[in-house]
Amino acid sequence: MNDQPLLSVEHLSVDFRLRDGLFGSRTLSAVRDVSFTIERGKTFGLVGESGSGKSTIGRAILRLVQPSAGRIVFDGQEVTAFGRATPLAFRRDVQVVFQDPISSLNPRQTVATTLGQAIDRHRPMPARQRAREIAQLIDNVGLASYQAGRYPHELSGGQRQRVAIARALAVQPRLIVCDEPVSALDVSTQAQVINLLVDLQREFGLSYLFIAHNLDVVRHVSHRIGVLYLGRLVEVGPANVVHERSSHPYTRMLMASTLVADPEVQAIRSRERRQAIRAELPSPLAPPPGCAFNTRCVWADTGCRARMPQLEDSGDGVQAACLRLTAVAAGAPNQTREEEVIA
Ligand SMILES: Nc1ncnc2c1ncn2[C@@H]1O[C@H](COP(=O)(O)OP(=O)(O)O)[C@@H](O)[C@H]1O
Ligand SMILES: [Mg+2]
Repeated sequence: MNDQPLLSVEHLSVDFRLRDGLFGSRTLSAVRDVSFTIERGKTFGLVGESGSGKSTIGRAILRLVQPSAGRIVFDGQEVTAFGRATPLAFRRDVQVVFQDPISSLNPRQTVATTLGQAIDRHRPMPARQRAREIAQLIDNVGLASYQAGRYPHELSGGQRQRVAIARALAVQPRLIVCDEPVSALDVSTQAQVINLLVDLQREFGLSYLFIAHNLDVVRHVSHRIGVLYLGRLVEVGPANVVHERSSHPYTRMLMASTLVADPEVQAIRSRERRQAIRAELPSPLAPPPGCAFNTRCVWADTGCRARMPQLEDSGDGVQAACLRLTAVAAGAPNQTREEEVIA
């Protein structure tokens, strides 16, 4: 058994040049020095607000954007060193499921045609076997056999997402980049699609990069979680630890509910949330100096405005980039912050 990670992202940075009319061009740092690994048969969850760089990381892995620094290694091969033409084997091994299947599925193709095309591209086979495979794929993703002849507009959002998943499975991939695959679905459908992804992972030994903006969604599918803020990882570690005792104040902000039993802790959580909401998300073109989260953080002091925190161990296998980890863990937020903001 190969115990090397299936994918490793090493110090990845991605810049976009924005043309700016009169003033020439500016550089937007969408991803900065991001490192993580995805183990075989496991899921790495990537979470962060809109604009934090999640899709850009997914697109760099898929070779849809060019990194400005760092390496991506898939199963021992350096993806970032491939030339212009992506090797066929890599195009088959790494598949993607996007948020909105209505724009990623061809509206003029039935489910069976879409799946057949995916099979033909990478695994040509005799017609009889092909028909059996299509039926099997439809069954694998929990669709009914009569839906093979349906067009995307004749299906519900959840069913369309099942077709997108079946299309990814059709080529027998090893890694699927799931970029907000349930964000457009209602809550009960979200749970069904997530359960499907988990079942398929067990059955086929798949690895996932699972991207979402909601931490509660990510933790249900992920073995490890990375939290992104303005292009940088601010916390990374085992999913249950990151979720249950988040080290970084930003991580807690991403949870749908912050209700806790202890009223003192609850008061701190409420203050954290108010501050994070009150101060807006800064522009990635002009991130605040020091810790980029300092403008939205009740724990921030002058040091946080001067120095950029690096990821460091915060216990139980978690790494967090916060200069005030000890204070945060002890539970005594900076008293001046709210007065400052209220004044
Ligand atoms: N092709 C592009 N050209 C210029 N800027 C881009 C491009 N793609 C993404 N960005 C910018 O990079 C940042 C990260 O975007 P993205 O990775 O899509 O974030 P997320 O998926 O977390 O919402 C955003 O500020 C976005 O506007
Ligand atoms: Mg995105």
